[in-house]
Amino acid sequence: MAKDTSSAKKGTYKEYGAPHQDLREWLDRVDTMGELMKIDGADWNLEIGAVAEMVYHSTPEDPPALLFDNIPGYPKGFRILSGMTNSIRRLAMTLRFPEPQGAMDVVRWYRDRMKDFEPIPSRFVNTGPILENVDRDEDVDLLKFPVPFLHELDGGRYMGTGDLVIMKDPDSDWVNLGTYRVMVHDKNTVGLWMSPGKHGRLIREKYFKQGKPCPVAISVGHDPLMFLAAGNEIQYGVSEFSYAAGHRGAPFDMVKSELHGLPIPAYGEICIEGEIVQDDERPEGPFGEWTGYYASSVREDPVVKIKRVYYRNNPIITMARPGRPPSDYTLSKSVIKSALVWDQVEGAGLPGVQGVWCHQNGGGRLFNVISIKNSYPGHSRQAGQLCCNVHAGNYLGRWVVVVDEDIDPSNLWDVTWAMASRCDPIEDIDITRRAWSGALDPRKRAGDNFNSRAIVDACRPYEWKDEFPPVAESSPELAAKTYDKWKHLLGK
Ligand SMILES: Cc1cc2nc3c(=O)[nH]c(=O)nc-3n(C[C@H](O)[C@H](O)[C@H](O)COP(=O)(O)O)c2cc1C
Repeated sequence: MAKDTSSAKKGTYKEYGAPHQDLREWLDRVDTMGELMKIDGADWNLEIGAVAEMVYHSTPEDPPALLFDNIPGYPKGFRILSGMTNSIRRLAMTLRFPEPQGAMDVVRWYRDRMKDFEPIPSRFVNTGPILENVDRDEDVDLLKFPVPFLHELDGGRYMGTGDLVIMKDPDSDWVNLGTYRVMVHDKNTVGLWMSPGKHGRLIREKYFKQGKPCPVAISVGHDPLMFLAAGNEIQYGVSEFSYAAGHRGAPFDMVKSELHGLPIPAYGEICIEGEIVQDDERPEGPFGEWTGYYASSVREDPVVKIKRVYYRNNPIITMARPGRPPSDYTLSKSVIKSALVWDQVEGAGLPGVQGVWCHQNGGGRLFNVISIKNSYPGHSRQAGQLCCNVHAGNYLGRWVVVVDEDIDPSNLWDVTWAMASRCDPIEDIDITRRAWSGALDPRKRAGDNFNSRAIVDACRPYEWKDEFPPVAESSPELAAKTYDKWKHLLGK
């Protein structure tokens, strides 16, 4: 697969055979692709968040990654990176795929890779750049880093957004990573919001049940491959470090944290370590969330007491700023989630899947579409139920739409046309009740962790699909002939 990349020019796509060593080498590659925008002087207090929002709301093709430096009040070199993998080309490059023509290419390649995918366990090393600086106990001061205040109604500065919360299951060797938000309470205390049912929360409960504090390390700057794994529902019991390394094609190097022996990325940027304590709860939130609202508001939540901070010289915080979509990570979320759902519905035995797309409009969760070759009675309902219920598609879903194979699931024109024309609401919408929701659901009152799902069958009815009125559109032959003659008018 490795290609000769020596002739690549600035701005061209490069398919790298060898994995990037770390975030910094990856940034060089992104710069070479012409997809890195360096921004000097933006303030941590709302300005960085607003700039990221405006860039990603305007959804240009292949939006750049944003690297903020010279942040007022902080030393030059203490940087924040937004939108790491939020372009199709950056995402493909990161995952070591060829140049894609569109998002569905990456979805397909990812899901193809999953068919014989093997996680690769981490390799422990004695040292690494992450140990260039270690602050201990009284010297810990989280606000020595330019922690951003991201949205106007946030309850505090959020250090962890594109982060990895690293925890070890007390009953086994399993190390879980999850991307869970981290709010700074003071110089050595943070809040950590893990929704009920998330693996990190299940692990925390185990420690608390045993009457013990829960050890945790939180990386807030690292390789984007790790973020892609930590922010998506990977199977219970599988370490996202090994999963990410499977995509890398090589193990990641880890050093053991000083206090709890947790693995922390040797080439990471900043990692904090401490314990979640049961008897110290403080208000966490509100925070602008991926649904586009501040729904979970403010709650009392157990805090993490931070006792170690490990960081490289001139460290980079990797930020992911949720909010009204699209935002700086929703494209990559949609791609990975779509591929995982596709893989899992096929794993559950569903034939004939043509594509899956979890739309950015629903934050990659609330509006998901599956396209199938509808081949037997009940096939389309089976597809809808599975798309709604496999683990990757389950948390905080709302709408699942099943469409025929002539509909591109990522194209909202196509999808809404199929819903409008092939679906009879009274026959073709099934409701699933008491499904997995949570505090972030804007349509639920506080404390209600269940929601319902609509499964919309927008396929032509199976029994008479061959009699369904023909589509009023030029045939491929007529379209090709016409294009050939009129391409000077029709463009590409
Ligand atoms: C940018 C971003 C922020 C997230 N923030 C949270 C959060 O604050 N709390 C939470 O429970 N899940 C959050 N998630 C979703 C989890 O990362 C995701 O469900 C992941 O699968 C959790 O890991 P787990 O499956 O090991 O529990 C976030 C995801 C992303 C991409």
